Amino acid sequence: MMKPVAVIFGVNGFLGRYLARHWTRSGYEVVAVGRSQRGWGGDGMFLPWDGKNPGPWELALEGAAVVVNLAGRSVNCRYDGKNRRAILESRIDSTKAIGAAIRKCRKPPGLWINVGTATYYRHAEDGPQDEWRGEPGDGFSADVARRWEEVFFGDATPAAVRKIVVRTGMVMANEKDTAFAILKRLAQFGLAGAMGSGDQRVSWIHIRDWLDALDFLLANPLLDGVFNLTAPECPTNRRMLDLLREKVAMPLGLPTAEWMIALGAFLMKTEPELVLKSRWVEPARLIDEGFVFRWPQWSNAVEDLLTREGLAGHFRESSRRSMGLRAWAQA
Ligand SMILES: NC(=O)c1ccc[n+]([C@@H]2O[C@H](COP(=O)([O-])OP(=O)(O)OC[C@H]3O[C@@H](n4cnc5c(N)ncnc54)[C@H](OP(=O)(O)O)[C@@H]3O)[C@@H](O)[C@H]2O)c1
Repeated sequence: MMKPVAVIFGVNGFLGRYLARHWTRSGYEVVAVGRSQRGWGGDGMFLPWDGKNPGPWELALEGAAVVVNLAGRSVNCRYDGKNRRAILESRIDSTKAIGAAIRKCRKPPGLWINVGTATYYRHAEDGPQDEWRGEPGDGFSADVARRWEEVFFGDATPAAVRKIVVRTGMVMANEKDTAFAILKRLAQFGLAGAMGSGDQRVSWIHIRDWLDALDFLLANPLLDGVFNLTAPECPTNRRMLDLLREKVAMPLGLPTAEWMIALGAFLMKTEPELVLKSRWVEPARLIDEGFVFRWPQWSNAVEDLLTREGLAGHFRESSRRSMGLRAWAQA
């Protein structure tokens, strides 16, 4: 029997590599699309594209079960004119190119997921933002998120194609150069005290829950529209770092004042907003639809992440599951 096809755009990046590994292991024929093979983990069949123009990659969409767009210039940079243009255009151009390719299909894909961001919502310290009542933010990154979604949902794809935007919080994996690895190092060096006021909320999600949530959306053919992919517990920055320090056994946690963050961000060619904006986002629709998070709480998620490392480490059975199997075998 033919395997269902999953086409992943932006496969060189962090989430692309994990998703390609996950779906390959779950029995999908993965087609990995990227501008190069630089970061690709080798899962699936690779096809090149340039992020905006038609090409042979379009044929992969014919009859695919699912298409996921992860392509976009990293937001971890200084928001100067050149980077702002690249951040916006890479997302809009790739979305338009995929939409145009889907319109050419004789048998269009069943589901098209665009991986958006929880930064869509406003800075919120007064209450959680969900898909129904959440208010859009303002400023550059929230504008990008909104315009990107407008292009995605405004694209005239055939009615048979389900379309979902997943507004994703900070995805946590013990993977180099990602948020968790950076926070872990800060904590180990005694530098992970509150950042700024420390009262800003941090929307995050364990990589396994993020992957499982995509499977859940894929398996439920009546679901479409917007879904927040964030863990149910959304701690303050201070609490998040306190718990992380506890788990790495580092009692010292020097706080960082806002001016220090501004200076550090300037030196590191990035933006203070990435740590100072309060992203209090609730995964209301996922919960309403019955999705069960394996790692709803930060404390447990950290314990699990610290036992893993890299792509291979994250695809080991979880210790919880193997403990469960052992207990079952001994019963
Ligand atoms: N990681 C998170 O915690 C998180 C949270 C919320 C939302 N997101 C969003 O999810 C998406 C994937 O995240 P990620 O962490 O995997 O990002 P990433 O590691 O930076 O990967 C992004 C991918 O986009 C591609 N890309 C970069 N510039 C491009 C351009 N100009 N045209 C076409 N493709 C381009 C890159 O391909 P090349 O290798 O060819 O350069 C890379 O494969 C991004 O849009 C990100 O904003 C991520």
